[in-house]
Amino acid sequence: MGKDRVHIFDTTLRDGEQVPGCKLDTTQKLVIAKRLDELGVDIIEAGFPISSPGDFNSVSEIAKLVKNATVCGLTRSVKKDIEVAADAIRHAKRPRIHTGIGTSDSHINFKFKSNRDDILERAVAAVSYAKSFVEDVEFYAEDAGRTDNEYLARVCEAVIKAGATVLNIPDTTGYCLPEEYGAKMKYLKENVKGIEKAILSCHCHNDLGLATANSIAGVINGARQIECTINGIGERAGNTSLEEVVMIMRQHPDLNLDTNINSKLLNDTSQMVSEKMGMPVQPNKAIVGSNAFAHSSGIHQDGVIKNRETYEIIDPADVGVSESSIVLTARSGRAALAYRAKNVGYELTKLQLDKVYENFLRFADQKKEVVDSDIHKIIETSDVNLASLA
Ligand code: KIV
Ligand code: ZN
Repeated sequence: MGKDRVHIFDTTLRDGEQVPGCKLDTTQKLVIAKRLDELGVDIIEAGFPISSPGDFNSVSEIAKLVKNATVCGLTRSVKKDIEVAADAIRHAKRPRIHTGIGTSDSHINFKFKSNRDDILERAVAAVSYAKSFVEDVEFYAEDAGRTDNEYLARVCEAVIKAGATVLNIPDTTGYCLPEEYGAKMKYLKENVKGIEKAILSCHCHNDLGLATANSIAGVINGARQIECTINGIGERAGNTSLEEVVMIMRQHPDLNLDTNINSKLLNDTSQMVSEKMGMPVQPNKAIVGSNAFAHSSGIHQDGVIKNRETYEIIDPADVGVSESSIVLTARSGRAALAYRAKNVGYELTKLQLDKVYENFLRFADQKKEVVDSDIHKIIETSDVNLASLA
């Protein structure tokens, strides 16, 4: 049986770009959009067209450029927003309007100073209006994570009737536990009339470090779209990280879920976004961090040199990293030193290795990391016959 396809909705250029200091100009956005299309994302959320003339222009240029992915523009449930978004995406091969409104009591009472019936009416009106411009309309129930399930189901049912093709269930504040977020998706699947006509979408924020876990819980419980960003960038603690959810589905075939992503482009895309946005990737970031395939303790290094799979669950080549690295520190063992010495041209006998290792430890205690040029120095200053080394 074939795997179920999970659509990847990339919002690096919208939710990701909302990060202070990450603003991009149109040229930079076009380069990223082209790469996202090559990566194989299904939907690119290109921006929030009414927010500024610059963002309108970026969305419009991306709509003209992108060949495969759906290009989407964000709006509030406001007529003018929808008209401007429709105009910005009009050249897209596959245009989508993403409209919505806050549905939690907190948003209804404090943000809109309104009531549930009024919000439901505004949601339906926005979807109907967006539908007069494009066929593909996604509805977001902002703060769905903290919205009462029974009311959320009523809103979803009403917007499907109005023509919504995708229902976005955002955990806007990153509040939910995975079990809770998964149960919300299951509840909607089981209680919304007409749900088979729409795709449920996960949009999770990372305030408690649970965005990836929540998105995976969402798809296990029936959602078929994940909204995410490269490197997990986004408001506050960020959004679901694209590379993480893609590789979780790849590494767990038992989930029977897959995406269209060419994972070999993940590392390069991560670096491109990091450079363009001036947002460094933390070294220990899953999948794309500089240490994701680096081994520095003696026990791990010995295992990896014997067989990579002892300490790696992903083949680095699958995400575009040329090879795992054996980093030399004062915690490294003889196996790692012999391996790195061989890489720079020295074949050490057991006796020679013992002598060089002693010298290495003295050196390594003074330095964070021992690099190739240090290895030459260490061997030259060890009491071994250099001429006998191949
Ligand atoms: O987090 C959120 O709720 C959003 C919506 C605007 C989709 O980004
Ligand atoms: Zn968001």
